[in-house]
Amino acid sequence: MSAQATMPALIYKVRELAADVREFTLVPGEGREFPVYSAGSHVVVGLPLGARTQRNAYSLLGDPAQRDRWRIAVRRQQPSRGGSAWLHDEARPGLRLELSAPLNLFALVRTARHHVLVAGGIGITPILSMARELARLGASFEVHYACRGVDNAVFSDELEPLAGGRLNLHDSERSGRLDFDALLARQSLGSHLYICGPQGMVEDCMQAGARQGWPASHLHSEQFLAPPHGLPFEVELALSKKRFTVPADLSLLEAIEQQGIEAPSLCRGGACGQCELEVLDTTGTLIHHDLCLSREDRAAGRKLMPCVSRLDRGCVVLKL
Ligand code: FES
Repeated sequence: MSAQATMPALIYKVRELAADVREFTLVPGEGREFPVYSAGSHVVVGLPLGARTQRNAYSLLGDPAQRDRWRIAVRRQQPSRGGSAWLHDEARPGLRLELSAPLNLFALVRTARHHVLVAGGIGITPILSMARELARLGASFEVHYACRGVDNAVFSDELEPLAGGRLNLHDSERSGRLDFDALLARQSLGSHLYICGPQGMVEDCMQAGARQGWPASHLHSEQFLAPPHGLPFEVELALSKKRFTVPADLSLLEAIEQQGIEAPSLCRGGACGQCELEVLDTTGTLIHHDLCLSREDRAAGRKLMPCVSRLDRGCVVLKL
């Protein structure tokens, strides 16, 4: 199955985990089995929002070897672009969704001597599948889970038996931010750290890693950014010979897809670089929100990640 192909699935069960977090158990449609995935993988879920389909990436949090059901958890975004609101307000057992093949941009490094897993809030979802895999392998690991109040520490009941005494539940309302300098300074040589959480937390961790002399190759992070709203702007696709307006509430990638044009994508959240398009000309300023392009690339203004980035106004001509 290619990354662009989809497979049908049905919502089997919906569980309220916290005031703004729901868990969904999905089963394969049409009597099929889901493919096996690796810990840290995500799946792109097609959500039927009226006449259009919104595609959001969610980490798979269950047992990677289980082929008859997958689990995802979704926090309601405030404000929501529609996807998380639909999953919280409309989704119910029996409804059909379209899923991509599982993709892993956040894989465990099997040769690591010790694994430090760090989650903030709903970032626990890939970390849970990693903890499950490491416990199964008998690998050396520890988990640090930061949340606002222990009542919001969803899945801590599943983590505790996996991590035992190696789980540090960090209530950031009472104890403030995690002290990444202290955490990283006490790790032994050959450790790898994996973090999934809010952007500020990931940045804190990466800056502490640089201060503590950690090699960048031993620090792994995952964030899926929601495409931000902006002003409408014009797009011209030079190869497809199409010109259209990207509305304020759609990403450039979504607007391209609405025109019936296939564009590459994987994470749809600015993290993988797969959707990169060449900019041939522009009358506006590119607004980059991705986590992939270098400062030099941004300054050159020749590349754009349409899943999260857009134009302030005017028209951009793309090689597509
Ligand atoms: S699809 Fe991954 S960066 Fe755009």
